[in-house]
Amino acid sequence: MVSFKTAFVAAIQLAAVTALDISVESSGGNYTGGYHYGFLHEDINNSGDGGIYAELVRNRAFQYSDSYPVSLDGWRSINSANLTLNRLAEPLSDVLPVSVNVKASKKSGKRRVGIQNEGYWGIDVKRHTYTGSFWVRGAYKGYFTAELRSNFTSDVFGSVKVKSHAKANDWVEHEFELLPTKNAPSSNNTFAITFDPKGASSGSLDFNLISLFPPTYKNRKNGLRKDIAEALEELHPSILRFPGGNMLEGLTHSSYWNWKDSLGPLRTRPGFEGVWNYQQTHGLGLLEYLYWAEDMGLDIVIGIYAGLSLDGEVTPEADFQAIIDEGLDEIEFIRGSVDTKWGAVRAELGHPEPFALNYVEIGNEDWLAGYPGGWSSYKAYRLPLFVEAINNAYDDITIIASGATTDGDGFDIPTPVIGDYHPYRSADALVEEFDRFDNDVGHIVGEVAATHPNGGSGWNGDLMPFPVWIGAVGESISLIGYERNADHVPGTFYAPVLRNMNKWQWAVTILQFAADTAMTTRSTSWYVWELFAKYPITRVLPATAEFDPVFYVAGSNEDLGTLVWKGAVYNTTNNAAVPITVAFEGVEAGTKAELTVLTNNGEDDYAYNDPHTGVNVVDSTTTVLEANDDGVFEFELPELSVAVLAATVESVTKARRSRGLRIAE
Ligand SMILES: *[C@@H]1O[C@H](CO)[C@@H](O)[C@H](O)[C@H]1NC(C)=O
Ligand SMILES: *[C@@H]1O[C@H](CO)[C@@H](O)[C@H](O)[C@H]1NC(C)=O
Ligand SMILES: *[C@@H]1O[C@H](CO)[C@@H](O)[C@H](O)[C@H]1NC(C)=O
Ligand SMILES: *[C@@H]1O[C@H](CO)[C@@H](O)[C@H](O)[C@H]1NC(C)=O
Ligand SMILES: *[C@@H]1O[C@H](CO)[C@@H](O)[C@H](O)[C@H]1NC(C)=O
Ligand SMILES: *[C@@H]1O[C@H](CO)[C@@H](O)[C@H](O)[C@H]1NC(C)=O
Repeated sequence: MVSFKTAFVAAIQLAAVTALDISVESSGGNYTGGYHYGFLHEDINNSGDGGIYAELVRNRAFQYSDSYPVSLDGWRSINSANLTLNRLAEPLSDVLPVSVNVKASKKSGKRRVGIQNEGYWGIDVKRHTYTGSFWVRGAYKGYFTAELRSNFTSDVFGSVKVKSHAKANDWVEHEFELLPTKNAPSSNNTFAITFDPKGASSGSLDFNLISLFPPTYKNRKNGLRKDIAEALEELHPSILRFPGGNMLEGLTHSSYWNWKDSLGPLRTRPGFEGVWNYQQTHGLGLLEYLYWAEDMGLDIVIGIYAGLSLDGEVTPEADFQAIIDEGLDEIEFIRGSVDTKWGAVRAELGHPEPFALNYVEIGNEDWLAGYPGGWSSYKAYRLPLFVEAINNAYDDITIIASGATTDGDGFDIPTPVIGDYHPYRSADALVEEFDRFDNDVGHIVGEVAATHPNGGSGWNGDLMPFPVWIGAVGESISLIGYERNADHVPGTFYAPVLRNMNKWQWAVTILQFAADTAMTTRSTSWYVWELFAKYPITRVLPATAEFDPVFYVAGSNEDLGTLVWKGAVYNTTNNAAVPITVAFEGVEAGTKAELTVLTNNGEDDYAYNDPHTGVNVVDSTTTVLEANDDGVFEFELPELSVAVLAATVESVTKARRSRGLRIAE
């Protein structure tokens, strides 16, 4: 916390610095409905499977692909049982052809035998109800046990008996609930299923699709991990971009993220190769993403596969109609009425109401993979054919192209299509982003993060270990620049959002986690994004435009009845604090406003929030200011700080009324 004393001393020392006086007009600008702050989620290094998707069992259905052969990864036997992977003549389903046979060996003696799973590098065990299921084939009289156990002591934290309904020639699902009697001291635990081999007529049983969920976010079946989803919800996001990212494109033409494979009961989902070095389950499917958006109140940007894979192969124009049809089907699945073919499928899966879908993005970074052929085919036919087809079917969808005017060899974005811009930069370079969109056509900023130290660039080695404070300030300045252009830049997305501390490639993410929920850590960037997203501006108001070292945007939120000033300070002379006055036209003396200031009180601009120490390097102070006799707010911001000043003002409430907006008290 910034103490009063420090603030006072700073004020005296810096009395010589001239104040920055900002006046903000009370009208003008464009009503935008509210700026969108959000994030891109894709399943990158176990941020989906093993991350926000709450499934605790790893390799639950022995799925595989060209890159990842079928294996017993994650599994161990109990009491010397012999585990064998088989392709039975009658598999659980066509798409899950491999199952495990569990058979007592001589060493097992008379003991119960079984199989145990280590989870995604551990399993968090708490005193709450777990929901599980497994499929068995083979006659068995007796009961199974489903248990959560320590992985290194003989402790069993919870155990339940599950009566067998297993049959000789059929796959039978067994469901159970498991309530541990105590919390485990660490996440070094396994989930175990055992049976008594004496009761199994052939001496062995076949298992597949073994699943265990903790309580999920909003109690959705097959849902999201609660602590992670809640930490994202606390960011006040209003938009979600998914499913990628590179994952959308896939490594080859035969392995892109096919949304149709991600629907329905888990036994109908084949799993997929992914592009981030592991087999994926398809558990976090299209409908799960849509529930995520619905449960958090998010608008969505859906990325539609556009015929380019990461190996650079492109679907030729002659075959492109099939790709367009897949995309149109997907849009229909999301927002078609129940009278449409795919709307009916959605209804059958439990959601007759169409989901809201206002933004569709065609492909992902088409200027990158397979350049120049991928990019030229995108501009020549892949984008135009999609635009024509979507416009013919829907007149209210904003179509987003997967590149920016500055990408590749340049891009003349065909209006009303808007572009997508992805700056992964150093703090300095993000500060230079401030005026990036002052004279450009519409874009979203579909991915942004401060990934590099100042002076650094490139993807090999020269990356930050975690989001650092100076980077978060750099992001805040680019965010201010984007929000200033809200009339043609409707939203900004942090990417990627999640990092599993046990398995990761991409270090800089807004939230870190591991199996152990105590490791869930909000980064420096998390605090900046949370503050800005809490005060979305619906109308950017004309204001003094004198920037550097203070960067700012002012406006109103006509839905909340507030006047808002957002600012950040970077590279002041001699690191001095800057006195600032903000005069909102029409604000009277004595009007109160809340000023929230984020700083890193330490010496190190590159300080970060380390999940291993749990220390938060971001200080946040909120003070109530009163407008002076001239109706002006006066305050001072230190070097490398980020701030929001917000006042609830009657005139803004009136503007809201005159727009006929519903008052949402
Ligand atoms: C409102 O938006 C239009 C269209 O983008 C733009 O030309 C105009 O400058 C904006 N008005 C103001 C006052 O910012
Ligand atoms: C385990 O199963 C494999 C494959 O069926 C077999 O070769 C092996 O002999 C078995 N071992 C035991 C101890 O039963
Ligand atoms: C569980 O124990 C096994 C055997 O000791 C070990 O190899 C494995 O790494 C442990 N799992 C975790 C998540 O630590
Ligand atoms: C879990 O316990 C096993 C066995 O003692 C040990 O090898 C492993 O390192 C532990 N894992 C963690 C994450 O503490
Ligand atoms: C900040 O100051 C440093 C040191 O003078 C300079 O190298 C850098 O370019 C400045 N960054 C910005 C964005 O002004
Ligand atoms: C992602 O995780 C995998 C293991 O799941 C690991 O082998 C790999 O190094 C990580 N990704 C990359 C590409 O670094």
